[in-house]
Amino acid sequence: MPVLEASNVTKQYQMGEVSVRALDQVSFQVEKGSFVAVMGPSGSGKSTLLHLLGGLDEPTDGEITLAGRPISHLSDDEVTLVRRRRVGFIFQFYNLVPTLTAAENVGLPLLIDGRNVKKHQSKIEELLQLVGLDQRMDHKPDQLSGGQQQRVAIARAFVNDPEIVLADEPTGNLDSKSGTAVLQLLRQFCDERQQTIVMVTHDPRAASYADRVAFLKDGRTVQDLTVQGSGGHEEDIRAIMRVMRELEL
Ligand SMILES: Nc1ncnc2c1ncn2[C@@H]1O[C@H](COP(=O)(O)OP(=O)(O)O)[C@@H](O)[C@H]1O
Ligand SMILES: [Mg+2]
Repeated sequence: MPVLEASNVTKQYQMGEVSVRALDQVSFQVEKGSFVAVMGPSGSGKSTLLHLLGGLDEPTDGEITLAGRPISHLSDDEVTLVRRRRVGFIFQFYNLVPTLTAAENVGLPLLIDGRNVKKHQSKIEELLQLVGLDQRMDHKPDQLSGGQQQRVAIARAFVNDPEIVLADEPTGNLDSKSGTAVLQLLRQFCDERQQTIVMVTHDPRAASYADRVAFLKDGRTVQDLTVQGSGGHEEDIRAIMRVMRELEL
């Protein structure tokens, strides 16, 4: 059974007289413990899909189901709880709180959920160790490189043991070495902790770290490609680029 499912999801944005159909009857499934990349040209609906999957926005039509539970038409309070407890987010520009240390940023989702952060200190430290930042726990974001900030954001995304982690262009602002470190960490969370990840990316090399690539075009899912290797394999990157060419992405 998929842990996350979009069924016939349409999203229409209304701006005055003009309406934009960002997603058009998209059906999309994510199996538990899998790492799925979403690719497509700018404006094809990737971020919109990610926002709907994470309960940040509501579809105009259709339904999102997370861990067997429909989330698209819950009350604001209910969907807020789903987001806090069941979803982790990673953004292109890290979105860390500048006044908090790395450890405090990682613990923030627990604090927001009203939990005793002190009780979870060992978990926060374990996660920071896993992302290679146990020596930087008391550093503020402006004392960390972009790659290090994104690794803090990864630790933060997983601190709640979410059902699903959603990442929108997580390597989009990083040099290739830091980007590779981020991708290897996501792969590791998937392989070693059976975490489920959906990542939007423009970059075929980044997508090659996933198990599967879903291609979006004009708000529709147009193709699905299985990735053979565990990331960075030239054969996979070429296969992804071939589909991009065929679909004129
Ligand atoms: N909040 C919004 N209001 C109006 N139109 C939007 C909004 N967000 C996205 N769109 C439009 O929906 C389409 C898909 O956008 P988006 O999901 O951001 O694409 P991508 O992430 O693939 O670049 C685009 O045409 C975009 O202009
Ligand atoms: Mg986008």
